[in-house]
Amino acid sequence: MTRLHRGWAPEVLAGARCRWRRSAILASLSLALVGCAKHAPQDTLKPAGPNARTIDNLINPVFIVAGVIFVLVEGMALVFTLKYRHRDDAPEPVQIHGNTRLEVGWTLLPALILLAVAIPTIATIFKLSRRPAHAINVTVTAHQWWWEYDYPDLGVVTANELHMPLDQPLEITLKGADVIHSFWVPKLGGKTDVVPGRANHMSLRGDKVGTFLGQCTEFCGLSHANMHLKAMVQTRSDFDAWVAGQRQAAPEPAEGAPAADGKALFTQKSCSGCHTIGGVSSGKVGPNLTHVYSRTSFAGSMFEMSPVNLRIWLGNPPGVKPGSKMPNLKLSPDEINKLIAYLQTLK
Ligand code: CUA
Repeated sequence: MTRLHRGWAPEVLAGARCRWRRSAILASLSLALVGCAKHAPQDTLKPAGPNARTIDNLINPVFIVAGVIFVLVEGMALVFTLKYRHRDDAPEPVQIHGNTRLEVGWTLLPALILLAVAIPTIATIFKLSRRPAHAINVTVTAHQWWWEYDYPDLGVVTANELHMPLDQPLEITLKGADVIHSFWVPKLGGKTDVVPGRANHMSLRGDKVGTFLGQCTEFCGLSHANMHLKAMVQTRSDFDAWVAGQRQAAPEPAEGAPAADGKALFTQKSCSGCHTIGGVSSGKVGPNLTHVYSRTSFAGSMFEMSPVNLRIWLGNPPGVKPGSKMPNLKLSPDEINKLIAYLQTLK
């Protein structure tokens, strides 16, 4: 350090440079690690359906164009910074006042590149907005903080877990019950906002059997981060069996069994005011529970379905899911056990 600007002591400058280098290395390492993540269930770059694949096919060329431009611009910035850096013995640079050819060039070239990128982008937007033939209609309603799925032509209403048959598209109408949410299953398609008072449309199709995770991607309040969902792509026969099961009436618990007490509590404790159970109640605030125990998760797919998790949940919903609209009903352990016994019959 022979020359010091702004009076920094050499050891201060050396310390700052060391810290900067350490942060840069850490940042690059974390980026590299994120890129290598094996278990990335919401990886949009590994599509499992034609819509997501159409988007992925657009990402690749755009990324290549952006990457080439990035390397060129950053490379030139680096070369010029080093080549023309200040030297004590350097003469005064030649002063210029504009260069028409260069200025026209650096205006036209980016415009042409943007135009080239716009052509496949617009084509993709039109392709994705086409309504598919032979689709199953589903109305997806976003609530704080869970998803409601209504299959009007099949007579099925469920929550959080979207069932779809292999290779058959869903034509989805998105509705919002309260605030703005956004529906996204990265491996199956792009995200679409859910706006109260407006019906947005999208279609989804899976061409691989499996469960694909998704979530709300628009900040919608305290439990926005807990507003997950699962899209379950099933073989035709599994899907048909699921539909048939969902259309069945809720079974009546045997007299004197804990489940029968649970059913009575369901009404006494005002659960029925918020939840629908076919033939029992018609509440509309919370998820339809007619076949709740056929689901693998609950509370916005935040918890795996199990008696243990249900016990924790019923003990104090807002305590485990911040802001939960389901209040703490101060249920006793005995009441919780009976309610769980009843919920377990609702398959
Ligand atoms: Cu719903 Cu964020």
